[in-house]
Amino acid sequence: MSIKGNGNGNANGSGLDREIVLEVARVTEAAAIAAARLRGRGNEKAADKAAVDAMRRELGRIPIDGTVVIGEGEMDEAPMLYIGEKVGTGEGPEVDIAVDPLEGTTICAKAMPNALAVLAISERGGLLHAPDMYMNKIAIGPGYPDRVVNLDATPAENLHALAKAKGVPITEIMACILDRPRHAELIKAVRETGAGVQLIPDGDIAGVIWTTDSRETGIDIYMGSGGAPEGVLAAAALRCIGGQIQGRLMPMKDEERARAEKMGIKDITKIFFLEDMASSDVVFSATGVTDGSLLDGVRFRGDFAETETVVMRSKTGTVRRIKTTLRAIGSRFIG
Ligand code: FBP
Repeated sequence: MSIKGNGNGNANGSGLDREIVLEVARVTEAAAIAAARLRGRGNEKAADKAAVDAMRRELGRIPIDGTVVIGEGEMDEAPMLYIGEKVGTGEGPEVDIAVDPLEGTTICAKAMPNALAVLAISERGGLLHAPDMYMNKIAIGPGYPDRVVNLDATPAENLHALAKAKGVPITEIMACILDRPRHAELIKAVRETGAGVQLIPDGDIAGVIWTTDSRETGIDIYMGSGGAPEGVLAAAALRCIGGQIQGRLMPMKDEERARAEKMGIKDITKIFFLEDMASSDVVFSATGVTDGSLLDGVRFRGDFAETETVVMRSKTGTVRRIKTTLRAIGSRFIG
């Protein structure tokens, strides 16, 4: 293992050595395998816990001095991978870590498509410390003029601007939106423009990533509110592969406002751009738990488990798809 340095970066001036790519892939692989054993069992909590335990265990093996900045919640509500928890061996670069060990707990419990195990790692201070609350988001793929869409514009203004920039009629634009009652107005407004809406039951990290390959996925824009932590993880992915995202926190009560302030967010109305949410080099890794259009889910074959992972590195823009076969040793699959 060659993660070098003592918190001040490696010889290339970056705290994230390229070999960390494989290390983080192992972490999301382990979480995905653990959750996959509980696919379709109707038990969100058990699947999430299995993913958290596995992710925590694997993170403990990596030679980093890591701090969880986006995790399972505050220290008093989450026993593991809580915000502020130190992870890694403690020897190695100082890094910040954002985790979503099981993105799509409900879809995993129902064995539906697109559940993922997700992690992003950055140099210290490189990821927004987003509180666990809703965030209003808008995201598009690469190749468009900067800020061609804007969180403060109406859905119609954004969709017309995007269609114009893409050079297609608005009827050829498809928006991805979480299927929630709170989005009824938004969905109506999008459809009134002539654009289409692809509704997803859960999993808006994938929803944002789909916009980066609209020819393959058919999705041009992600709109609507979802988790703020998922917003930061999606921003980390876009930092690696290109695209734009904007997000604004949506505190529902005073307690959430206070929590945001405690986490250093002074202006709750601020729009966070990609560079605010993922402000330095990042590595992003996601492993499929259930089959999806981004990744295949885990396959168990006798003594083996097969996984598919996408790992991206912002410094180089490299995107690796890794198919891994792991052998069972005792009750665990070892990477
Ligand atoms: P979980 O895996 O924590 O259940 O999150 C799934 C998810 O769909 C996220 O992708 C999304 O950001 C969030 O839930 C939306 O929240 P809500 O289900 O409350 O609308």
